Amino acid sequence: MNKWPSSVTIKEVGPRDGLQNEAVHVPTEDKVRWIDMLSEAGYQSIEFSSFVHPKWIPQLKDAKDVAGQISRKPGITYAALVPNQKGLKAAIETGVDEAAVFMSASETHNKKNINKSIEETFHVLKDVVHKAKQQGMRVRGYLSTVFGCPYDGATSVDDVIYISRRLLDMGIDELSLGDTIGVANPRQVDEVLTRLLQKIDKEKVALHFHNTQGMALANVLVSLEHGITTFDSALGGLGGCPYAKGASGNLATDDLVHMLHGMGIETGIDEEKLKEAALFIQKALGKELPSHQMQILNRGTEG
Ligand code: HMG
Ligand code: MG
Repeated sequence: MNKWPSSVTIKEVGPRDGLQNEAVHVPTEDKVRWIDMLSEAGYQSIEFSSFVHPKWIPQLKDAKDVAGQISRKPGITYAALVPNQKGLKAAIETGVDEAAVFMSASETHNKKNINKSIEETFHVLKDVVHKAKQQGMRVRGYLSTVFGCPYDGATSVDDVIYISRRLLDMGIDELSLGDTIGVANPRQVDEVLTRLLQKIDKEKVALHFHNTQGMALANVLVSLEHGITTFDSALGGLGGCPYAKGASGNLATDDLVHMLHGMGIETGIDEEKLKEAALFIQKALGKELPSHQMQILNRGTEG
């Protein structure tokens, strides 16, 4: 039996997780153009923005305008981050397909990111998930700091399993496990997944790696061995979390696609279109993107 899957789903989070941490505020029209280019590249899911407080994440304060101006392609799920009822209301008004709720596995990051304790967050999210489902939306639940917290240090796997279960019991369709600050290593991913997947259906689990220490692709490989087939990534390796000291770019979509296609694993994504979209956002940001694929492109040589 082949241990690798025949296909993998890649969820593009660059317009949200990527841009939320950039010093340069990309104009709305460039965001819209970029997301439209991503829609043409073959993704099944694009997280296009966040309905959070604009004082907390000013880079994404134009979420409503972006939602109203992008060309939505049938078959693509357009998702946005939603922290509470106020965010959900905006997401419903703008016809978002998927609400992504989020919380952390560590107390201090949760507090710094969404200004609540973990226990208080359960109460808020329970009602958000319920209402979103009533509206016919898909709901994804992010769990951050699964592999370590910049404030509290090591994260307990028991806590990760407990919070994951609580989120799934609320009715989320998918759980995305975040290595928020990119501290996970392959052995740790193996150990966490070995325990977690005894309690949780792997079909419901996605992995969300950041590449701070250059280990994101190695961590993907271990996740694939556990049967995980959904990964979040940001084109060009953009990204981070402004409320997680040390969080650098997400796993780069272009590097992930390159690796998977090289292994004969389908993603449905067109590498040429991906390059065009990466060059576009690189120009809009006025800085070279960190992915290996973009470094090769920027050098103008594969040597
Ligand atoms: P708060 O201050 O506790 O909110 O913030 P509040 O409920 O006390 O309300 C205070 C004010 O905020 C009120 O306005 C509300 O109306 C307003 P006022 O009456 O003072 O004028 N407000 C809002 N405004 C706009 N949109 C909203 C909203 N909610 C309340 N949704 C809150 C709590 C959650 C809003 C805040 O902490 C926040 O916006 N946090 C966002 C943090 C964030 O986006 N972090 C980055 C994303 S997470 C991440 O990157 C990790 C991930 O990638 C996975 C991984 O890598 O691990 C997902
Ligand atoms: Mg993230």
